[in-house]
Amino acid sequence: MAPTTLHLRSEDKPLEHRSALTPTTAKALIQAGYVVNVEKSPVRIFDDEEFSAVGATLVPTGSWREAPKEHIIVGLKELPEETFPLKHVHVQFAHCYKQQSGWDTVLARFPRGGGTLLDLEFLQDPASGRRVAAFGYQAGFSGSALALKNWAWQLTHPGGEPLPGVESYPNEDALIADVKKDLAAGQEKAGRLPRVIVIGALGRCGRGAVDLCLKAGLPTEQILKWDMAETAKGGPFKEIAESDIFVNCIYLSSKIPHFVNVDSLKAPGRQLSVVCDVSADTTNPHNPIPIYTVATTFSKPTVPVDGLDNPPVSVISIDHLPSLLPRESSESFSNDLLPYLLKLNDWQNDPVWAGAYKLFQEKVATLPKEALEN
Ligand SMILES: NC(=O)c1ccc[n+]([C@@H]2O[C@H](COP(=O)([O-])OP(=O)(O)OC[C@H]3O[C@@H](n4cnc5c(N)ncnc54)[C@H](O)[C@@H]3O)[C@@H](O)[C@H]2O)c1
Repeated sequence: MAPTTLHLRSEDKPLEHRSALTPTTAKALIQAGYVVNVEKSPVRIFDDEEFSAVGATLVPTGSWREAPKEHIIVGLKELPEETFPLKHVHVQFAHCYKQQSGWDTVLARFPRGGGTLLDLEFLQDPASGRRVAAFGYQAGFSGSALALKNWAWQLTHPGGEPLPGVESYPNEDALIADVKKDLAAGQEKAGRLPRVIVIGALGRCGRGAVDLCLKAGLPTEQILKWDMAETAKGGPFKEIAESDIFVNCIYLSSKIPHFVNVDSLKAPGRQLSVVCDVSADTTNPHNPIPIYTVATTFSKPTVPVDGLDNPPVSVISIDHLPSLLPRESSESFSNDLLPYLLKLNDWQNDPVWAGAYKLFQEKVATLPKEALEN
């Protein structure tokens, strides 16, 4: 039987430096008998040569369109906005299963061309129902980093100007060095280190959030690690107002009492000046942190909370935090995905991929007829 060829796309979004395959996972796939074609990429955090060094074949940027039909196209984020029908099996995040705007046009391209979407967001272990690979850890890690930077920034810029834009870091060490430097400057002004509360501390994002604080040099007793047990009594929680920084990392699955709201934060004795809402359920009506309404970005990381001063409170609500650490995010995601990537040569008979295919078929069945006719 001919070996299965995987074709790694170059991502299309200009600020997307992450990659679904890394040199490490490409090497493992090649050793297992796969052919790995890697599009040359001007944006990927890994150099093209890192892939050729492990035996991958470099192919032109965007060449997935002309790849033989049986090649499996692997990418991370959405395809470029085009309309031609898709003939390949695509492994990626397509963001078209939750009725997002334009979902029908995006999804219809697959059945129109006889192609298949195996969406990475819905790759689940059938026994536990948990996602097999997600970007949570680096999201929490990056969110905590920005929160500590913002705490220090507020102290060193009492005039109230907001934290300037940030760019992705080449690696984790560079981020930690930067946070340590800022934290030292903040500590000098405050005469102490901040107290941080992480809620959802036992989850992927939460573990990342706690680890960043530790790696930045906060003693463990400065970090309150809360999860279900601690919030069971129902908020709002004075422990949040009494902390300097609140990093929210919960997976919100139902309506719960507010963790904080503007009224609870108006009570005297508040220390809190930074919230990083890693969960970023910004527009969800059950958002347990109803103190802001917009998603922030790397270029404008914070939004102030109206009605709170002395000290002012600002919120970080970036919904693409893992992109701050594209190298480690890619490594960790692709490593978690590797056992399943290794099954792609017989994906129809693997329960995880078959589950993704079943979902694809179910979603295609909901497409309006007009979408299939274009
Ligand atoms: N901002 C970003 O860039 C970004 C990136 C990745 C994930 N996320 C989001 O972060 C959230 C968490 O993702 P995850 O992968 O860490 O999930 P997870 O399931 O691994 O962890 C969630 C944790 O929250 C806890 N939890 C749930 N409800 C709680 C409550 N009421 N009180 C206290 N703890 C509670 C759970 O017990 C669990 O430990 C998700 O909403 C996800 O979409 C955001």
